Amino acid sequence: MNLVVFISGRGSNLEALLKDQSGYQITHVIGNKKNIKGFEIAKQYAVAHSFINWSDKTQAETIANEILSEEQPDLIVLAGFMKILSNDFVNQFKNKIINIHPSLLPAYPGLNTHQRVLDDKQTEHGASVHFVDGLLDHGKVVSQTVINVEKNDTADSLADRLIQKEHKLLIKTVGLIANKQIYWDKNQLLFNNNSLKKPIIIK
Ligand code: GRF
Repeated sequence: MNLVVFISGRGSNLEALLKDQSGYQITHVIGNKKNIKGFEIAKQYAVAHSFINWSDKTQAETIANEILSEEQPDLIVLAGFMKILSNDFVNQFKNKIINIHPSLLPAYPGLNTHQRVLDDKQTEHGASVHFVDGLLDHGKVVSQTVINVEKNDTADSLADRLIQKEHKLLIKTVGLIANKQIYWDKNQLLFNNNSLKKPIIIK
């Protein structure tokens, strides 16, 4: 299975995928910022990478489309990609784009999830992988990982603890898609041939 990964910065989820690449390979990395750490990581793994200036979304998506029509990926992974893709773009790749988001969706879409979890005195936090449907951090949730919120946690400590689990969540989920344990049948998401009713919990 061929993957194209979209990033905006650090690229630690990208790195986890590059290290793993079991049953899938990353053929291209697209980023909307110049000189980001994620591009350095792509270079280390000799993976093609392209910077696209996203100040004009239509133009940016046209360029992204050119790359994607070359690469013909089976799956597009948004791994810390901080731009919202247009409906037209998403619809072209229906059920082929996943995103990793640091919250237990549908709770806390958007930014600053760790602080918002603390402000609301939640006892649990986590991350989700979901198919992208054009709304922000929205679409069928495939899998989640959960952590406890401890008394002394700060937004930074939560982020540090969660990112380790995010890596595992993402590579396991991509692995399940690569070996076809997770797949779409028309508009139904199946897991091991049964309709997926609730997110798969990855420990
Ligand atoms: C991760 O927390 C991811 O869930 C969120 O952005 C962050 C990206 O981190 N969407 P990295 O660039 O993969 O290190």
